[in-house]
Amino acid sequence: MDKWIAPGRVNIIGEHTDYNDGFVLPIALSLGVVCAAGPRGDGLVRLTSAQRPGDVVQVRVRELVAQRDRLPGWARYPLGVVDEFVRGGHRVDGVNLELDGAVPISAGLSSSAALCCAVTIALRDLFAPELTDRNMVEIARAAENGFAGVPTGLLDQSASILCTEGHALFLDIRAFAGKETAGAEQIPFDLDAAGLTLIVADTGNPHDLADGGYAERRAQCEAAADALNLPALRDATAEDLLRLRDPLLRRRATHVVTENARVLAVADRLRTGADPRAIGELLTASHHSLREDFEVSALTLDLAVEAALDGGAHGARMVGGGFGGSIIALVDHADHVAENIINRFATAGFAPPRVFTVEPAAGAHKLD
Ligand code: GLA
Repeated sequence: MDKWIAPGRVNIIGEHTDYNDGFVLPIALSLGVVCAAGPRGDGLVRLTSAQRPGDVVQVRVRELVAQRDRLPGWARYPLGVVDEFVRGGHRVDGVNLELDGAVPISAGLSSSAALCCAVTIALRDLFAPELTDRNMVEIARAAENGFAGVPTGLLDQSASILCTEGHALFLDIRAFAGKETAGAEQIPFDLDAAGLTLIVADTGNPHDLADGGYAERRAQCEAAADALNLPALRDATAEDLLRLRDPLLRRRATHVVTENARVLAVADRLRTGADPRAIGELLTASHHSLREDFEVSALTLDLAVEAALDGGAHGARMVGGGFGGSIIALVDHADHVAENIINRFATAGFAPPRVFTVEPAAGAHKLD
């Protein structure tokens, strides 16, 4: 069977801005989900995963929706993608799917988007070659939001499909959602040349988008935009914030407005070829905003960020939806900062975090 891979992501900056029609700046990881796939002519989907040995899920394509609630949670992501192809009018007369994922799960690194995107690109090549990258982003997101029931924005799937090696992807979500090629820009992101390293520390404290906190933040952002009579918080200005009477909604909106400004500032600094150390302070400011105004950080995330900064990082922040998961830190000396984080966790009595370095890798593609 042929094989495809789709990566996880870390977002350099632009957290909780995607569902507010704002800006994001992710890179793809070299860790991804591999999907081996081949057509079968009998109307069945047969699904296995190397991470679920012995679990074989077999279901008729035309019974996917009826069987949904009986399927194991992990299988709803790939099968949701098959369902989206069917909904889109593409003929899928049965398919074998064998998955093998290397993106840590519940680490805020988009393992679920990587899974959906790997299946999406495989099915695109097998059954609907006319589909564009943007179509694939939409299919993967629809599968996750609908069949799998997880209310994500567009960040993760866009990163997994559109990122390119050596670049950060600047995405204007509103422009991208409206037009085929608008809104996406590949910005060179060569940390190595500047003697820098980006590290990820997975705190091991799981983050879960399906529990209430993420959906609640989305609802609060919508309520703030409504109160301001704006289509989305993307359109809010610093002056608008003063018009928000509810202090909670004002804090939430303040994060979104300031975070969008930080994404634009980071993108500008990188575009002009400035020393990437210059973005460090904006990364740290983003963390503070997520902690104070958006209130999606966690004790372990704060501890890891603090330890990274004390260890000499130029900037550090939590990534992804929050409430757990991972942080990133921009550092000169990866070993030293990693040691600092690991020691701090040990002193606090937490299990050791998993620390590794990342480089901007390629988006979803077929393997040779
Ligand atoms: C999760 C969601 C994304 C985005 C981030 C926060 O990763 O899947 O759509 O909202 O949280 O930036």
